[in-house]
Amino acid sequence: MKKLGFGIIGCGWIGTLKHIRIYSRMAETEVVALCDIDRSKAEAAARQAGLTDARLYVDYREMLQDPKVDVVVVAVPNALHADIAVAASAAGKHVLCEKPMATRATDARRMIDAAKTAGKKLTVGFQWRWRPEAMYIRQLCERGELGDIYFAKAHGLRRRGVPTWGSYMDPDKNGGGILWDGAPHSLDLTLWAMDNHKPKSVYANVHDLMRDKPEGNPWGIWRTEDFRVEDSGFALVTMENGATVSIEAAWLINIAEGQDMKTTLCGTKAGVDMFADNGGVRLNLIHDGKPAILRPDLSPVVFPGIPPELDPMQQEARLWVDCILHDAPPAVDPEQALVVTQILEGAYESARTGGLVTFR
Ligand SMILES: NC(=O)c1ccc[n+]([C@@H]2O[C@H](COP(=O)([O-])OP(=O)(O)OC[C@H]3O[C@@H](n4cnc5c(N)ncnc54)[C@H](O)[C@@H]3O)[C@@H](O)[C@H]2O)c1
Repeated sequence: MKKLGFGIIGCGWIGTLKHIRIYSRMAETEVVALCDIDRSKAEAAARQAGLTDARLYVDYREMLQDPKVDVVVVAVPNALHADIAVAASAAGKHVLCEKPMATRATDARRMIDAAKTAGKKLTVGFQWRWRPEAMYIRQLCERGELGDIYFAKAHGLRRRGVPTWGSYMDPDKNGGGILWDGAPHSLDLTLWAMDNHKPKSVYANVHDLMRDKPEGNPWGIWRTEDFRVEDSGFALVTMENGATVSIEAAWLINIAEGQDMKTTLCGTKAGVDMFADNGGVRLNLIHDGKPAILRPDLSPVVFPGIPPELDPMQQEARLWVDCILHDAPPAVDPEQALVVTQILEGAYESARTGGLVTFR
């Protein structure tokens, strides 16, 4: 059987760490093309992965004409996602776009419409859904074991964790700071676990008071004048069913322990913390009339379609390739990724105006 030809646009951190690494090794896929505006990055990525036959491009529009490319991965700065994804769909390619799907809900809608018109698949790189802890929590929710979930927290606080490579501090390329970086992951996890993608309103604050404090950052220091985005953001989302979702996100904040890419859910029957005390899942409930804590054994968590030995990035790839080969719906529905974008875009608007932003 012919292998699916992958073309990777953006050969930076995630392009190489996740996509080139994985799609160059799967039995059903091969990386046939690499594109980066910085040609040396595409060359280095090809060399590192031993891709001697891959074609290299600096202009993604040329790569989209390549008939060997069946599937495009969009792994460039956030503000470019929508235009490239739309062009890729129009060129007849399936598209996996990195998170956040887009920095405007209208752009995310354009992406969905373009994929539909082309009759091609579209998904978004929310791989942390496929952590054992996240899959377990989702299953608890599906079985109704938490009862009605009326409060959730999307944790994205790093004590120190400012990305100093690429364009994360450039508002024109990244769309903003931490709210477009870590927050999409933890918000996606939370909404997916709750199975609730109907936001009613959001109220938010953002801060940039730590941008002159690079000491202690594991990814190196920066110049204060280059840091032109928020370093933390806090939002309160009200869902249509009345549930409250709190978003806490920071690249650097003076807390004892960071909690990132994590969710907490509280329902009428029980609550659950992901990575409580730095590992696994903690179920908080009443047992025999007394508050009790359960720490379930999560090995292995079996989720439909996923072999338990794969890491979350490989699981994302497994589900994505199966979706294309078997003409199935993508495991990360782009309509759900659009809602993540809609809430975060609303959060920025609320922070800018100081008011509540309502949806629909
Ligand atoms: N899923 C995850 O966990 C995860 C992790 C990190 C980053 N990301 C997302 O991936 C995207 C890239 O992040 P990164 O950390 O890899 O950044 P990066 O700066 O390391 O890589 C981006 C690459 O895109 C290239 N590029 C820029 N404009 C381009 C264009 N027009 N055409 C082709 N190439 C272009 C740059 O030269 C660079 O090599 C961002 O949207 C980010 O949010 C996702």
